[in-house]
Amino acid sequence: MMKVLVYGSGGRDHCLADKYGDSQHVDKVYFAPGNPGVLYTPKGKRGLIERVPIRDLGQVADFCVEQGIDLVDVGSENPLEEGLIDLLNAKGIRTIGPRKDYVRLESDRAFTDDLLVDIGVPKPEYRVFDDPEEARKYVRNIGYQVVVKANGLAAGKGAIVCDDASEAEKAIHDIMEKKIFGDSGNRVVIEERKYGTEISFFAYLDGEHVLPLKMFAQDYKPAFDPDDTKSIKQFGGNLNTGGTGCYCPHKLVTPWLVNRIIKEIVNPTVNAVYNKLGWKYKGVLYFGLNLDPYNRLDVFEINVRHGDPEWEVIARKLSSDLFEIGTAVCEGKLDQINQVWNSQYYVDVIAMEGRSKASRGWNKGYPGRYGKGHRIKGLDQIDRGIAIYFAGVDEDEEKGLVTHGGRVLHVIAGDPTLEGAREKAYRNIARISFEDHYNNGANCMRYRKTIGL
Ligand code: GLY
Repeated sequence: MMKVLVYGSGGRDHCLADKYGDSQHVDKVYFAPGNPGVLYTPKGKRGLIERVPIRDLGQVADFCVEQGIDLVDVGSENPLEEGLIDLLNAKGIRTIGPRKDYVRLESDRAFTDDLLVDIGVPKPEYRVFDDPEEARKYVRNIGYQVVVKANGLAAGKGAIVCDDASEAEKAIHDIMEKKIFGDSGNRVVIEERKYGTEISFFAYLDGEHVLPLKMFAQDYKPAFDPDDTKSIKQFGGNLNTGGTGCYCPHKLVTPWLVNRIIKEIVNPTVNAVYNKLGWKYKGVLYFGLNLDPYNRLDVFEINVRHGDPEWEVIARKLSSDLFEIGTAVCEGKLDQINQVWNSQYYVDVIAMEGRSKASRGWNKGYPGRYGKGHRIKGLDQIDRGIAIYFAGVDEDEEKGLVTHGGRVLHVIAGDPTLEGAREKAYRNIARISFEDHYNNGANCMRYRKTIGL
């Protein structure tokens, strides 16, 4: 039997650990640095998933050697950029995820956008700026609406969608001068705003072949439901988040659209990665796409890992053994993988930190400043068959599991109908609450009500 280590600490990473735990080949999954939430789940309780709270990448590599880990899967972009794969490979450990220099596909938007244009993969019009004054001049003159994007990594939150030139100027100021995304905003990409439906599409690469997953999901990025005008006003706008929930299959999943995505976007991009760049890329590529009302597909972005929360619903729907896919990535055998999907719908609703009382004043809640250390109640009320994946949580000696991040946990339900999956997810999340200790124990959990609609 095999041992897997998943590196990460969020919901997507917990879900990866859970999915490896389902494999017929795996009898132990280590989750580093992980989060204490796994100990509150069935696989954590019986020791199939074990948290290893080490963060230092060198120590992780040493741990893998000592324990004889058979496969390491790295869930998020930051450790990839810090070179975890290179470190592990140097010690002879098998990995899923790109080498440090290949992370550029996500960490340098301008580089990837130029590559896509070069190979004729459709993407919205864009311009790149290093000077905020030049960027401002551009948005004042362009006439149409734009999205202002930090060029570097920003945890899936680096794009600001603008209604007009003054919003775009503010976004340029916030990203380039106020540095809300740190040095990732030294350079911006200003892109034509597209309307239509967003699609998150994933493919595994083994350095030679590609396995496009023939199932896709839709992320719900704005913090609030569009009709929740009271909260939007109180918050000061409907900001984009890293994702507030997801459902799958996406209503647009049809064989003809999957074929188009593979033919127009995935294949030419992978071909360019292997042959134009000459990269032996092994891992996941995430294609952030838009399908507009005229049926035109465009690439918004490419990431070097699964989407979060998109992976959580795709993984539940995938019946193929993830360890077999991972092994095929390492051995260059993805052409031998048969992807199998079950017949359920899945809905993931994320419980976020909402408005809470601070020691002085109020926290606006995620994606603004949020409180921490709120006791998480109601987990013992969750129905069997509902998956809980933990993200921003910590453990307190007195209170047990407490909140520690903006996106705290995912509630995922499956059902033969989308309505059924929504009903189960919402029935269960309503049983969970976060106790605001500065506000007489009031519930400060917030979640969107329209996921899957
Ligand atoms: N859900 C968007 C992302 O993972 O970047």
